[in-house]
Amino acid sequence: MMSRKEHYIVGLDIGTSKVCALIGELREDGILSVIGYGTVESKGVSRGVVVAMEPVIECIKKAVGDAELMSGVSIEKVFVGISGSHIIGFNSRGVITVSSQGRKVTRDDINRVLEASKNISIPQDKYLLHVIPQEFIVDDHPSIIDPMSMLCSKLEVNAHIVTCSNIALRNLVECVNRAGIPKVVPVLEQLAGSIGVLREDEKKLGVALIDIGGGTSSLAVFDNGSLWHTFVLPMGGNNFTNDISIGVRTSLEEAERIKKKYASASPTFVSEDETIEIQTVGGATRKVLSKQIINEIVKPRAEEIFVKIKDELRRVDLYQYLTAGIVITGGGALLEGMADMAQAIFDLNVRIGKPYGAEGLNDVIDNPVFASSVGLVKHGSESLKLGEKYDLDKSWLKRVVNKIIMIFE
Ligand SMILES: Nc1ncnc2c1ncn2[C@@H]1O[C@H](COP(=O)(O)OP(=O)(O)OP(=O)(O)O)[C@@H](O)[C@H]1O
Ligand SMILES: [Mg+2]
Repeated sequence: MMSRKEHYIVGLDIGTSKVCALIGELREDGILSVIGYGTVESKGVSRGVVVAMEPVIECIKKAVGDAELMSGVSIEKVFVGISGSHIIGFNSRGVITVSSQGRKVTRDDINRVLEASKNISIPQDKYLLHVIPQEFIVDDHPSIIDPMSMLCSKLEVNAHIVTCSNIALRNLVECVNRAGIPKVVPVLEQLAGSIGVLREDEKKLGVALIDIGGGTSSLAVFDNGSLWHTFVLPMGGNNFTNDISIGVRTSLEEAERIKKKYASASPTFVSEDETIEIQTVGGATRKVLSKQIINEIVKPRAEEIFVKIKDELRRVDLYQYLTAGIVITGGGALLEGMADMAQAIFDLNVRIGKPYGAEGLNDVIDNPVFASSVGLVKHGSESLKLGEKYDLDKSWLKRVVNKIIMIFE
């Protein structure tokens, strides 16, 4: 039996715009319930990476403290999202001989073939974050999800390997440790986001998740139920704010307010001469502008983000596999008209992804800003369930992801 404490799972999302700690409780009936959260404006993070430790430590302390206060739970271990352009994902293949005569595949064989897929040279400055199996190949039969107990002579696996910078990871873990939390489980941010918002059928059909944060827009491509590609574009919601600030000569605070209240990225937006009143730099005077001007400022930036992601999808030859289309999440997805712009650029189904699969605190659950935080908690609860009892109905795809991640103590 698990002790009471082990029923709690904490997700920590250290983003460019906000640091968010979310506490979930895995109830006896198997339902995950969000029971506390803390979110503070982020300091010391640029483009998803820690660039100043002290401010980040303070942000973590505050977010975690608020979440502890709200839930009455004391936090010792967190699942933390790791992001940034230092993350590299690539596909690899492992091959083993089970037996020349053929016999039933055992758990040991599966572990051996996964080990074989890791048998690639990883540069000294990189850390192997995840090995995610995509499909097994049993004697040249591809697309096998779980080869356990199948008769087999040669077993192969195609896996997605994710590495990150050693230094970036160590700095992140140290910030969390110094904020008073001894145990840290790093999880690829895009994986967390996808667990937060993507449906299983979308992942099977082929889908691209685009998480538009403050400083980054990240991409994760799924097909056949598994992760095939990740990419981080160092551009996000803050670029819209900067563009507005420069374009209409106002402060960043005022530009942020205008963006959230009046801006639209829609290619078909018609304001019919609606006007808004804004503060000029310094805040001394106000001026009146047409909403159309704001639209003309944000539109090209939204277009640029989506075109760059489309180019990346084409470059890796995955664009034609997106049968379920595009899912947009993160705070940038709240900018009005983003889905319309994505639709125009990609010419695919587009939806806004909100977190699902957890109960409680609807203001959190129902907001794309918390996609990764909810995903981290869901990911943690999945490993808790798997750790408690070995469930043979669960696919290897989920099981192995949880086995590979490390705990730093
Ligand atoms: N209602 C809104 N309309 C437009 N933009 C919004 C809205 N709410 C939040 N944003 C923008 O979303 C961005 C923050 O998103 P999010 O919280 O997902 O970022 P983050 O996870 O902290 O950053 P990153 O993932 O890049 O490290 C900011 O640029 C913010 O201005
Ligand atoms: Mg984010």
